[in-house]
Amino acid sequence: MCGIIGYIGDKQAQPILLGGLARLEYRGYDSCGVALAGGTLEVYKDAVRVEKLAKVSPQLDGTVGIAHTRWATHGEPSRVNAHPHLDCTGKIAVVHNGVINNYQRLKQQLISEGHKFVSETDTEVIPHLIEKYYEGDLEKAVEAALREVEGSYAIIVLMADEPGLVAARKDSPLIIGIGDRENFIASDVPAILGHTDRVIYLEEGDIVVVTGDSVRVSRDGVEVDWKEHKVSWSVEDAQKAGYEHFILKEIHEQPRVIRDTLGEYISAAEPIVDVADTSLESMLILACGTSYHAALVGKYIVEELLRIPVRAELASEFSYHGQSPATTMTIVITQSGETADTLKAMKKLKEAGCRVIAVTNVVGSSATRIAEQTVYIRAGPEISVAATKSFIAQLMALYWLALSYSVLDMRTRDSLIMELRQLPEKVQQVLNNEDMISECARYLSKYENAFFIGRGINFAIALEGALKLKEISYIHAEGYAAGELKHGPFALLSPDMPVIAIVAQDNTYEAMLTNIKEVKARGSPVIALAEEGDEVIGELADSVITVPQVAPIFSPVVNTVALQLLAYYTAKQRGCPIDFPRNLAKSVTVE
Ligand code: F6R
Repeated sequence: MCGIIGYIGDKQAQPILLGGLARLEYRGYDSCGVALAGGTLEVYKDAVRVEKLAKVSPQLDGTVGIAHTRWATHGEPSRVNAHPHLDCTGKIAVVHNGVINNYQRLKQQLISEGHKFVSETDTEVIPHLIEKYYEGDLEKAVEAALREVEGSYAIIVLMADEPGLVAARKDSPLIIGIGDRENFIASDVPAILGHTDRVIYLEEGDIVVVTGDSVRVSRDGVEVDWKEHKVSWSVEDAQKAGYEHFILKEIHEQPRVIRDTLGEYISAAEPIVDVADTSLESMLILACGTSYHAALVGKYIVEELLRIPVRAELASEFSYHGQSPATTMTIVITQSGETADTLKAMKKLKEAGCRVIAVTNVVGSSATRIAEQTVYIRAGPEISVAATKSFIAQLMALYWLALSYSVLDMRTRDSLIMELRQLPEKVQQVLNNEDMISECARYLSKYENAFFIGRGINFAIALEGALKLKEISYIHAEGYAAGELKHGPFALLSPDMPVIAIVAQDNTYEAMLTNIKEVKARGSPVIALAEEGDEVIGELADSVITVPQVAPIFSPVVNTVALQLLAYYTAKQRGCPIDFPRNLAKSVTVE
């Protein structure tokens, strides 16, 4: 989704802004632009990649500016729809993340008052409203303009000849980076990594005036104190470190991510979740996309270790029909902490009196503000649009939570904890098998469709394997509960429809072998994912990807990593833009 950055200080702004935009590319975008202020405003924008914009825009002189990556919602990706947007005088420039719901009414009103619009965007009403209310004080004009606006926004306003930038947020994140004789405003931390590790996370409704050496935050017209935080992510965390793609680096980081995340939970004096007044009789887990697949794995883990009923639901659906008693322990899982559907479900639960626990990767994100409690995963910045290491870290949070409250006897629990701690080595063994997995990918890359099947706890991994393959390789893939395939999808089986079968050493094993035979009998080629030492599977499947032996409850971890590599090498073979798949955005901040 859109990304924004602003700079004001004693350095040339253009290279800092373009560098920031390059680090925002991961959010997904289709156009970008930059505006610098001197006596006049200079604006360069187009439906191009940041690299191209950097090449075609002339060197601009100025130490204050704003920039934007746009993910189209209102109006196609084009130069005219790209941000920054200007008012009629060409002196006020605005970059915006979010959606203005009442823009059509505001636009008609402004047109009737003589304002001229050039784009199809909702954003363009903002600079015109600011122009309308400007009487020599930019902050007051922004305040007045935002009083008219309904919807979500994180904006930065730049005005020629004004000494400072003005920014504001509502339902869309915005941070201030504090430097030495320079300050930054950005939609998220990666944009300013390498410049400063000191940040302020703005609150809902904040309006901020930023100069090179001052930051003034007000809420409801009253100046408020702000709190500075130290960011633990480094600039190296957000670089490729010699890997061809971010996703490959992030897949390879997973042993470290497991160690960091578990290390923190294990060393904590208290359980990671305070169950307080929830009686732990039932649990609801909500999430979207890959995080929803973690929720599905969580359902199996918690039901097995706590013996309580668990519902795993799509947050986007729950917002419209779902309900939950206040005594149910409610967890939301969101890597970014900014997914609009997830935030909406959280607000609904809160209004109904539920205590919501957020599992997230991003400090200060919106989810952490709504939640009663936050459990952080230690994945570090995830730049690739497709989630990998954050999923594995989410599973660690769920394993640890379930083990903390498990009804198992001490010996069984301790032996599971011991196995959990060995997972970094097991994942490393999967990574060491990369060449063999890439061979299977060469074979898979020739197809246009595929099924992923699994049973029990690995049904969720079939869904995740299919999602990863479709989003980065553009092969149409469907994840299915293996037993369901014969209830309809069998009609699609043929030599052109490979089936990737996840074969776990648990109570589903025999049934999976039967399913594989059924699939083979209908002509589909089978790639099986199976544990080392499985002597039978080689005789049934066309190819086998082996994963190390682990307790069945941990099999999603090794199986997921193998399927991530399978998707990666398939996408690479097909020449896809793996880190930034078409039409996708890293954090989905619209419903
Ligand atoms: C897929 C992917 C998405 C996200 C989903 C939720 O690889 O990354 O499906 O998992 O958009 O995002 P978060 O976890 O940030 O709420």
